[in-house]
Amino acid sequence: MAKPRASEGSPALPQPVAIPLTRAAIFLVVKVKPGTGNRSKIRSFCSDFAGLVRSVGFRELEGSLSCVVGFGSESWDGLFGQPRPMELHKFHEIRAGERHAVSTPGDMLFHIRAQRMDLCFELATRIMARLGPAISPVDEVHGFRFFDSRDLIGFVDGTENPKAQEALDVTLIANEDPAFTAGSYVIVQKYLHDLAGWNMLSTETQEHIVGRTKLTDVELDDSVKPTYAHNALTKIVDDGREIKILRDNMPFGHAGQGEFGTYFIGYSRSPRTIEQMLQNMFVGKPPGNYDRLLDFSRAVTGNLFFVPSATFLESVQAD
Ligand code: HEM
Repeated sequence: MAKPRASEGSPALPQPVAIPLTRAAIFLVVKVKPGTGNRSKIRSFCSDFAGLVRSVGFRELEGSLSCVVGFGSESWDGLFGQPRPMELHKFHEIRAGERHAVSTPGDMLFHIRAQRMDLCFELATRIMARLGPAISPVDEVHGFRFFDSRDLIGFVDGTENPKAQEALDVTLIANEDPAFTAGSYVIVQKYLHDLAGWNMLSTETQEHIVGRTKLTDVELDDSVKPTYAHNALTKIVDDGREIKILRDNMPFGHAGQGEFGTYFIGYSRSPRTIEQMLQNMFVGKPPGNYDRLLDFSRAVTGNLFFVPSATFLESVQAD
């Protein structure tokens, strides 16, 4: 089995960032209320967090329950002080033409995953009960795996994700920030789709926008793939080497209200990679050659969080 890399002298273990896709997920974003009592509650929660996940997950071992917790830039100093993760900052909004990658409030993210929603829901309930008045919920999205791992625009989503050791290598911090080895950065955005508009496009046009075939999920040949294709704009190459990220997007929605969405979640050992992808999608590469998915998808949230290692969380002392 693939092993996370630990930097010299630091055997830090990661949170369960790079795990196989699950059937259900809850994305819970909360604000931390000011006050030292609240800081104390959250610090003591950190060291008990793994035990809480275990106690719910053990009730259904085949449910593969896991949870990753991340912290936003504005809450880090108050909760943990120094040192601070080198690249932690507020999510940078991007405006370009009609397109807007919004930056929205959020101090903590809980990314809860399992094969069954009841496990996710039970854990979310326990987290809220435990943190109670120290936090206020900002956004909660319940995601489900859709046919053939497709998103609601009908394309298979997640195919080109790195796997095994490569997934660990692209997500976990090594020596570049020695105080935070085995940590990671995560960016989330909640997108709402204009599905009626999207479904009016021909399948061929949709395939050009995504850069893959719809039914068979095969990458388009470079001779036909437009430079604005989603998988062309999100390909980041540095010094001749492709820099990947790890995604676990989930569909969500409310059929009765005509709401159809994709919750984007991307993990990376540096937020710069995902920021560059967003720049290419929203502004375009070159500027103006933007991602046409955005003509049919509107970002209504946007956050960046730091995901400390499991070892870091366990070592946090209540005060
Ligand atoms: C409207 C929301 C989005 C939808 C519906 C969507 C959908 C897709 C689909 C269908 C694929 C092709 C299959 C695959 O390899 O997974 C894909 C690939 C990809 N997407 Fe997205 N995506 C969305 C947002 C984003 C965002 C915001 C980013 C990054 C900032 C991103 C990064 C990527 C990357 C890196 C790939 C793999 C490209 C490759 O190596 O071939 N996506 N996405």
